[in-house]
Amino acid sequence: MSKLVQPHGGKGLKALLAPQAKRAEELLRAGDLRKVPMTSREISDVLMMAMGAYTPIDGFMAEADWRGVCLDMKLENGIFWPIPITLSCVPELADLIGDGEEVALTDGESGEIFAIMKVTEKYSPDKAVECEHVYRTADAAHPGVQKVLEQGEINLAGRVTCLSEGEYPAKYPDLYIRPAQAREMFEANGWSRVAAFQTRNPMQRAHEHLVKIAIEVTDGVFIHQVLGKLKPGDIPADVRTKAIQAMIDNYFVPGTVIQAGYPIEMRYAGPREALFHALIRQNFGCSHLIVGRDHAGVGDYYGPFDAHEIFDTLWEGALETQALKIDITFFCKKCYGMATGKTCPHGEADRIHISGTEQRAMLAEGADVPLEFSRPEVVKILREYYKSLAENQ
Ligand code: ADX
Repeated sequence: MSKLVQPHGGKGLKALLAPQAKRAEELLRAGDLRKVPMTSREISDVLMMAMGAYTPIDGFMAEADWRGVCLDMKLENGIFWPIPITLSCVPELADLIGDGEEVALTDGESGEIFAIMKVTEKYSPDKAVECEHVYRTADAAHPGVQKVLEQGEINLAGRVTCLSEGEYPAKYPDLYIRPAQAREMFEANGWSRVAAFQTRNPMQRAHEHLVKIAIEVTDGVFIHQVLGKLKPGDIPADVRTKAIQAMIDNYFVPGTVIQAGYPIEMRYAGPREALFHALIRQNFGCSHLIVGRDHAGVGDYYGPFDAHEIFDTLWEGALETQALKIDITFFCKKCYGMATGKTCPHGEADRIHISGTEQRAMLAEGADVPLEFSRPEVVKILREYYKSLAENQ
C-alpha cells in the first residue's frame, strides 16, 4: 500500500491518453470527424488530462460543473475543483454539432489532432460570473481574464479521449514526468512526504530558500515547473530548465530534489490557482505544495497572502495535499543571510528585494546582479539568453 497521498477523488489516477496500440487507428478515425480548433490553453488542458494530472475529471466541463466550480469550487458530484476546465467555440460551429456527436479536437494553429470528444452538452457560460469568482476581477488587462473574454461564446462539454502528447515527451525527455511516473520515483526514493515547488521562473535565491525550508521538513522536493505557454516577457522554458539545473547542481544535496515540468498554461488566477496547483500535485503524489508570496499572481490583483488564506476556507476532506505556507523570503544584510518575514526582525532597508523586471533590466544592460539575490551560475545562463535576445533584435 502506497504511503503517498491518494489521487484526487480517491479512485486512482485517470489518465485519458488512449493506449499506444489504439492511437494510430483512432487518429485515422478522427481525421474524418468534424474539427473543433483549440487555443493553446485548451490544448494544455487536454495534455493535462492525457497524463492524469486532472484526475478525476474525464473531459471538458458541462454547465453544472462549470457553475459549481465557479461559485462553490465543487463539481456537480461534490468533489472539490477550483478552476473551470472548458472548451469553447463560436456559435456557428456549435450549431453544426449534433447531440452525442464525436468531434476531433485540433490545434487551432497547426491543425494537429490531439483528441476526440463526444459532445454531450453545449452551453453559453456567463463570462462575467467566471471572471468575478475565479479571477476576482473583470479587468480585461488581467491576462487570465483576457483569455476568458477572447473565448468563443459557446462551451462544448463531453468525455475526451486523448490521442497525442504533442512535442513534450520528445522535447523534454527527462522532465516530462507523468503523475504515475512521479509516484514511482518518489516511492523508489523512499519518499512519502513530498513537497512540490511550483514555478514559472528560473530559481533565484528566494526560491532556493523556499525549497530548502521544504527539504528540512519533508522527504524531498519536486521542483515542478510550467512548460506551457507563458505571458510575454517570461523566461522561455528551455532557458529556465537549464538555469534551474545549474542551481540544483551547485547548491543542493544530491537526492533531495527532482526537477520536472508539466504542460499547464498559467491562468494567473492567484488564490484559486494556488488551490488548483495543490490539487494537481496531489495527483502527482505530493503531500504538500509550497505557497509563498503572491502565488500564481500577476500585477497587483491579489494580496501577497491571499493564496495562503484561501486554503483555510476549504471544507474537511476537500483536498489531501496541504499548503506549506511560507512568508516572503529575501537576503537580509543585518542577518547576513536568507530569511523570511517571520524570521528576520530587521526592516525593509536591510533587505535585498529585486523584482523580476529589475533583474531583467540588469541582465539586459550587462550590469552585475547582486550575489545576495541570484547565484552566479544561474545569472550566467540568463545573461547569455538576454544577450542573444539583444543580438536578434
Ligand atoms: S508562480 O506559479 O507563483 O507564478 P513563481 O515562479 O512566480 O511561480 O513563484 C514560485 C513560488 O515561489 C510561488 O509559491 C511563489 O509564491 C513563491 N515566491 C516567489 N518569490 C518569493 C519570495 N520572494 N518570497 C516568498 N515566496 C516567493
